Amino acid sequence: MGKLRVGVLASGRGSNLQAIMDSCSLGAIPAEVAVVISDKAGAYALERAGFAGIPAHFVDLKTFESKGDYERVVVKILQEHRVQLVCLAGYMRLVGEHLLKAYPNKIMNIHPALLPAFPGLHGQRDALAYGVKISGCTVHFVDEGMDTGPIILQAAVPVLDDDTEETLAARILEQEHRLYPEAVKLFAQGRLQVMGRKVLVIK
Ligand code: GRF
Repeated sequence: MGKLRVGVLASGRGSNLQAIMDSCSLGAIPAEVAVVISDKAGAYALERAGFAGIPAHFVDLKTFESKGDYERVVVKILQEHRVQLVCLAGYMRLVGEHLLKAYPNKIMNIHPALLPAFPGLHGQRDALAYGVKISGCTVHFVDEGMDTGPIILQAAVPVLDDDTEETLAARILEQEHRLYPEAVKLFAQGRLQVMGRKVLVIK
């Protein structure tokens, strides 16, 4: 069986992209990153793709009349690279209708909190401010909402009394780098079944 072709959308430093690329190149998951797309010109994720010899594209939303037009180009690039699964890795935009339609239940995201708690841009900061004792990360399928899609995998970490946003984020990030490749692996193995809000992991 051929390897699953993954397209990664990232806006920033791309450490989750790196974790997925590393797992692919180690042969730990039957997948390969086929293309990386960023909506930010200087995103380090684009450089990481370049170092790995993976095609990297910057698509500038500002140059399009609508988000729909922007997404049409993103989808075109993904399709040109025969992408079968899209992974959002620090992609700082809500996914719109066009992308969702092109990849139904085939777009994943990683969020740095135990959803449905603390969705949005500051998962770690919000968890800390709320005073929870446990936080973590969530890999989920993407729907039209902000961090609302069916949950695939979660990992928990303790929140310590002397944590800062940075120390908590670092503890969570370690788990993100383990969890995201694991979710991609399950998808590549055809072991994820979406039943409404639930994602069954087939043994
Ligand atoms: C991660 O914390 C991820 O959970 C969130 O954005 C951050 C991206 O980090 N969605 P990186 O770009 O993968 O290093």
